Amino acid sequence: MVGRHLDETEVALVHEVIRQRRSIKPSALSDRPVAREAIEALLDAGNWAPSHYLTEPWRFVVVEGQARHKLADVFLEAVLAAEPKADEYKRKKVHGKPLRSPTLIVVIRQGGEHPKAKDHEDEWAVACAVQNMALAAAARGLGLFWSTGTPMAHPLVAEHFGCDDRSRVMGFLYVGWPAADAWPEGRRGDVSDKTEWRV
Ligand SMILES: Cc1cc2nc3c(=O)[nH]c(=O)nc-3n(C[C@H](O)[C@H](O)[C@H](O)COP(=O)(O)O)c2cc1C
Repeated sequence: MVGRHLDETEVALVHEVIRQRRSIKPSALSDRPVAREAIEALLDAGNWAPSHYLTEPWRFVVVEGQARHKLADVFLEAVLAAEPKADEYKRKKVHGKPLRSPTLIVVIRQGGEHPKAKDHEDEWAVACAVQNMALAAAARGLGLFWSTGTPMAHPLVAEHFGCDDRSRVMGFLYVGWPAADAWPEGRRGDVSDKTEWRV
């Protein structure tokens, strides 16, 4: 396979996966467990992302089962630290977040020892890893949703995942099998409106 060009049908399939990849909302995921092999395949896809100086600056934490409940407690603690008067509705909503999918992959940008590595390049590399995982999920019909909202950036969340001042949580990937008919339509403007050709 190394160096082999794909034939036209295979190229069309790859392109189709790119176009069909969607963010599948956690509320549209079912409880059906995701096999460990499938999760490992997503992680392997992530691991093949490019990185400047080959820093491979990603670290993944797979959270399943009871560990989701521990994470739920941390989420709640983080929100209450920032907003002690959060009402019952908000508390429940935040606490329920990690329980919305059978598997979460926590994506962390890990600082390394390379003298020339730049944080922003490493973060872009991690984003490439996420996209690889999203494509690997879409190809299998698995739902994946990249969540970066509150309380991702809270220090309590960082501490829970062993982050130091050289590392940072870059998101939670909610992974699960979509409930029936949950694959949404995509929407994009025309690429020609965003492209200038200079020849
Ligand atoms: C870096 C990044 C962070 C994102 N974070 C969130 C998020 O926190 N909440 C959310 O609803 N969607 C989030 N999204 C998903 C976008 O809303 C989604 O990609 C966009 O609506 C296009 O839909 P599609 O992915 O199905 O094509 C994020 C996407 C990216 C690339």
